[in-house]
Amino acid sequence: MTIAVFEHEAALAAALARRVADAITDNPRLVLGLPTGRTPIAFYNELRHVSQQQAVDWSRVHTFNLDEFVGLSERDEHSYRRFMDRHLFAHVNVSRSHIHFLDGTARDPVRECEAYERAIDEIGGIDLQVLGIGANGHIGFNEPGDGLAARTHRVTLLDQSRADNAWWFGGDRQQVPAEALSMGMATILKSRAIVLMATGPAKADAVAAMIDGPLTTRVPASFLQLHPNVTAMLDEEAASPE
Ligand code: PGA
Repeated sequence: MTIAVFEHEAALAAALARRVADAITDNPRLVLGLPTGRTPIAFYNELRHVSQQQAVDWSRVHTFNLDEFVGLSERDEHSYRRFMDRHLFAHVNVSRSHIHFLDGTARDPVRECEAYERAIDEIGGIDLQVLGIGANGHIGFNEPGDGLAARTHRVTLLDQSRADNAWWFGGDRQQVPAEALSMGMATILKSRAIVLMATGPAKADAVAAMIDGPLTTRVPASFLQLHPNVTAMLDEEAASPE
C-alpha cells in the first residue's frame, strides 16, 4: 500500500482531484468508482473546479457508486444519489445514462445487487475506485463483524454507521435508514486501482489497523492489503494513531 500524507485536507483533496482528472484525460472511457460521505466533499469541490478549469470531458466516463440506503429513491433528498448530483454530477458533463447507482427502492434487492455486479463486469470492471473509510473500519457499507460479503449485497447498518451518517439527515440518527445496498469486498478489490482518503483524528485508529493490522473481518479495510495498487491519502491527523 502506498501511503501519502498531506499537511491539510485541502492539499489532499486537490491532489486526488488532479489524479482523477488526469486519469480521465488519459482514458476518456474511464470507469470510476465513487464514495459518498463528509470526507469526499472537499475532493468533489476540487474535482468540479479542475474539471471546469481543464475542460475535462466526462461524456464517455462511467461512474459506479459504492452504496445506497434501502428505501430511499433517487428523488429523495437524503439519498446518496442526490448527494452525488449536488456535489458532482450536476457540475460536469457526465452522461446520465453512464451514472450507475444501486436503487434503494428496488422491489427485489437481490436481483438489483446481481444486476449491479453484472453491470460492472460487462463494462470491463472499475479502473479507479475512490474510497472513504468509516471510523469502524468499514469500506462502502461492508461493516465489521464475523464475516464479510464478497459481492454486492443488502446490509444492516451498525449503530455507529447510522450515527456517523446522521449529519446527512439533519443530525437525527433515527432518520438514517437501517439498511443499505453496498458493493462487496470482492467487488471493491477487483478494481484495477484504489485510492482511499481519510482525514481527521476519528479515522486514525481505523487507518492504522488498515495499514499495519492483521487481515480481519473486524476491520474490513484491512483486506485492502491484498490489493496490488492501493494508495491511502491521509491528512496528518488520520495518519497519527494515539
Ligand atoms: P465519512 O464517511 O467521509 O462521512 O467519514 C466515510 C465512510 O464511511 O466511508
